[in-house]
Amino acid sequence: MTTPQSYSEKYLHLGEKIDMDAHVLCVYKIKSSQMSMKEAAAAIATEQSTGTWTEVSTLKEENFLKRSGKVIDIKDNMATIAFPVEDFSLDIGGVPQILSVIAGNLFGLESIEGVRVEDVIFPKSMMREFKGPKFGVEGLRNILKRPDRPLVGTIVKPKIGLSPEETASYVYEAGMGGLTNGKDDETLSNQKFCPLEERVVAIADALDRVKQDSGHIMIHAINVSTNGHQILEVAERAQELGATQLMVDVLTCGFGAVQVLAEDPSIKLPVHVHRTMHAAMTRNKDHGISMKVFAKLVRMCGGDALHIGTFGVGKMKGEATHDLAYRDVCLTKDMPYKPVMPVASGGLQPGMIPALIHIAGKDLQCQAGGGVSGHPRGVRGGAMAMSQAVEAGYLGMTAEEYAKDHVELREALQKWGSA
Ligand code: 6PG
Ligand code: MG
Repeated sequence: MTTPQSYSEKYLHLGEKIDMDAHVLCVYKIKSSQMSMKEAAAAIATEQSTGTWTEVSTLKEENFLKRSGKVIDIKDNMATIAFPVEDFSLDIGGVPQILSVIAGNLFGLESIEGVRVEDVIFPKSMMREFKGPKFGVEGLRNILKRPDRPLVGTIVKPKIGLSPEETASYVYEAGMGGLTNGKDDETLSNQKFCPLEERVVAIADALDRVKQDSGHIMIHAINVSTNGHQILEVAERAQELGATQLMVDVLTCGFGAVQVLAEDPSIKLPVHVHRTMHAAMTRNKDHGISMKVFAKLVRMCGGDALHIGTFGVGKMKGEATHDLAYRDVCLTKDMPYKPVMPVASGGLQPGMIPALIHIAGKDLQCQAGGGVSGHPRGVRGGAMAMSQAVEAGYLGMTAEEYAKDHVELREALQKWGSA
């Protein structure tokens, strides 16, 4: 067995005062049967900064003092490690490099069975290097002329297989039913049955018709998730053809994909950030990375809306208290950026919405796929039921109360019940 224990002591700085503006603080939950907490935390600080499993002749004292990770706190199974700002490279490296330091090799250390990155706190100097969202909560509300009600959307279902015309007709019906947001599903890209360019054009036309026919404004996020070398070009093309919002899968594409869409001057559309694959890293309570960390990075990189869970309601695993913490990251004034619109999505249906809004608050985009297109009256009826449910939640009424004189919501409740 090889462990960096010979180095451990040097990386322990328990109780020492740390210059918060000169370090990135990272909180790890650690599980190790072979090492004490001190040893395990020191092993992480070692591996992630200036050390390795054995002492090396090339590590000079000055380098060690300036750039070593410092274990500054241990409480039960939680350890805080401070990494000097100098360890990071933002101009070339960016978030991929940040992740390599705070959430890199440590997951594979033989002597640590479980480690979870629970939180990260960046110094102001580093946060200033990021721009955050261009639109955020207020920008989206301005586009939609919806100053304070929660946004209400749909994910076109089925996930795959609809033609551009069928997709556009779904979006039109959803808009006529009062939804503010539509979006592609995460597995839809540029398949033959629904080429991206044709889809963008057909949806743009549908959204124009919604505006003409009802005066209502709706936007739709086109999934531009793709390889790094293509994403900007695909996004520019979608924008040119009339896209009103872009969607990107942050964990499969990388944080750089969010950042380039938010920061490149050619892109003038809000960026909806999906988190497909996140549960591989966020679900295990003893090993992985908390959604809180991802939410902070998405906000720094400029995502305008971010999926954070369904607050204990809906089909995706997640507890209300955890999702509230992610929501707080989206909205907190402690970060020097515009707030990100928190998105609740996954197994939602109209009967759940008032309870969801009660828990999550009004700065929220709630959306339903099956909960719209599975409605007995079809997409328009489902969209109306969702819109009514949002109105009920906004007014502080239960779904049942509001359903008394709203037939679409009533029928949704008859089919699916309420939360
Ligand atoms: C999304 C997400 C996800 C969700 C569904 C929603 O694209 O928004 O992948 O959060 O699982 O796609 O579909 P349902 O409302 O039918 O569950
Ligand atoms: Mg989906």
